[in-house]
Amino acid sequence: MKELNGETALITGGASGIGLSIGKRLAEAGMKVVLADIEIPVLEEAVAELKELGFEAMGVYCDVSDMASVEEMKNQVEETFSNPKVVCLNAGVGFGSPLSEATISDWEWVVGVNLWGIINGLHTFLPAIREMNEGHIVITASIAGHVSVPNLGPYSATKFAAVSIAETLRQELLTENSGVGVSCLCPGFVSTNIWNSERNRPENLLNKSLDELTEEELLQREAFMEWISSNAKEPSEVAELVHQAILDDRFWIFTDGQHLEGIKSRHSSIVNGDELPWPSPPLIDI
Ligand SMILES: NC(=O)c1ccc[n+]([C@@H]2O[C@H](COP(=O)([O-])OP(=O)(O)OC[C@H]3O[C@@H](n4cnc5c(N)ncnc54)[C@H](O)[C@@H]3O)[C@@H](O)[C@H]2O)c1
Repeated sequence: MKELNGETALITGGASGIGLSIGKRLAEAGMKVVLADIEIPVLEEAVAELKELGFEAMGVYCDVSDMASVEEMKNQVEETFSNPKVVCLNAGVGFGSPLSEATISDWEWVVGVNLWGIINGLHTFLPAIREMNEGHIVITASIAGHVSVPNLGPYSATKFAAVSIAETLRQELLTENSGVGVSCLCPGFVSTNIWNSERNRPENLLNKSLDELTEEELLQREAFMEWISSNAKEPSEVAELVHQAILDDRFWIFTDGQHLEGIKSRHSSIVNGDELPWPSPPLIDI
């Protein structure tokens, strides 16, 4: 999509982190920006910030895991702005636990936001964007959608699904010679609030055992957060890549080459029928 100026962009999970940075970058490109999110006070601050910078922006409450909420959000967007031509299905929550310890509530929460969020978003916005025959859909997956590592099972499962949905959508739209582009965003580590995703977990899906971290787990978390603060990418760098990929209609958006060895060894174990790379390459070195 070459001309963004004056068109509408919708970003789910737009109140914070990568989503907010994408919103800012697309606003700088002249787009009217809709930030859809579940975290109202942060959403209001984000929209106020964009407006102070002189951009056209609106915030809409939306729980992406709930189809009715996504449809209601679409109605509100249409009342204020035109149909979105850029749709970034980006809302997501992070969750780490061995599969043996993940509860059904953990699964429901992570699958609800990370996978149903994409399904509900596509179901709601794809028909109009296909009809317009112009636009771009960005699906936020992750490096965790390309490699499986211990303790990230539910999260990784949703991100593998996100990659597959993006690949399938790309091929289907190419098959019908559509003017709608697709990108699959696969960030490595980015400095955002994802490490504090529990803040948005609904009451009915809480996992109380997570409140009782051992001393060792707390130390591990501290070391991890320190590593993130000095090694992770800034969300603005990711947003720059997303903006360029929309203009160039480029499918894959990898944010760094750090994890390519892990992806290659997984693929070579598939192609050669070898045992999985084990121990799996650590995602970070702390
Ligand atoms: N930060 C990273 O290192 C990293 C790496 C790979 C992929 N990602 C992916 O990037 C995307 C954005 O995450 P981020 O890192 O910016 O984290 P973030 O926590 O800063 O932003 C996520 C946003 O999603 C919103 N959200 C959560 N539940 C929601 C729901 N039910 N409905 C609507 N919005 C909801 C949050 O309120 C928040 O504003 C996610 O899909 C995440 O999985 C992040």
